[in-house]
Amino acid sequence: MSKEFDKPSKKARALKADKAEPLPQSPAAEAADGTVPTKGGLRVSPASGSRQAPRINIGIDDEDRAAIAEGLSRVLADTYTLYLTTHNFHWNVTGPHFNSLHAMFMQQYTELWTSTDVIAERIRALGHYAPGSYAEFSRIATVPDVPLEPPRATEMVRILVQGHETVSRIAREFIPVAEEAGDDPTADMLTARCTVHDQTAWMLRSLLED
Ligand SMILES: [Fe+2]
Repeated sequence: MSKEFDKPSKKARALKADKAEPLPQSPAAEAADGTVPTKGGLRVSPASGSRQAPRINIGIDDEDRAAIAEGLSRVLADTYTLYLTTHNFHWNVTGPHFNSLHAMFMQQYTELWTSTDVIAERIRALGHYAPGSYAEFSRIATVPDVPLEPPRATEMVRILVQGHETVSRIAREFIPVAEEAGDDPTADMLTARCTVHDQTAWMLRSLLED
């Protein structure tokens, strides 16, 4: 299996917010061919802390925590974008399969919404701030934004298949980063996310198969 995303090097892990390089203008276009674009220069919020609070000391060094927070931030941005897309489709789906798709999309967006809280709070537990604005999400997400014009039901399903597969690939690429740093909680969480996204992609894909 080819490596689609280069694991952040030690140098990349030392990324500083003020040295961030411009991101690709159209990450969604790169994602369309099934690859995960490298997003060098992703800005990671500075570690939180104050004179009153002791420095974080959980056995994972600063560089590794920054690298993991970067990966989790990408997974969060893509999960949130996929959540919004799924909720939009829940509202706007039409056609003879309205009832089943309307209900299925609700189940899926609820799961995605719930997961964003878990991912964001893991970023906080690692001592970094979680991204949580439309501007930041659109800047770092790989999953494309929701189509302005609601597509036909089958196209909605196809878009969601690709979205779940994209989030799964990105999450999977960062599992070794967490494992290498001894961050089993993050590795376990990302593994669980891959399980959900792979299964959801399978169920959605099955709707399109003869
Ligand atoms: Fe609803």
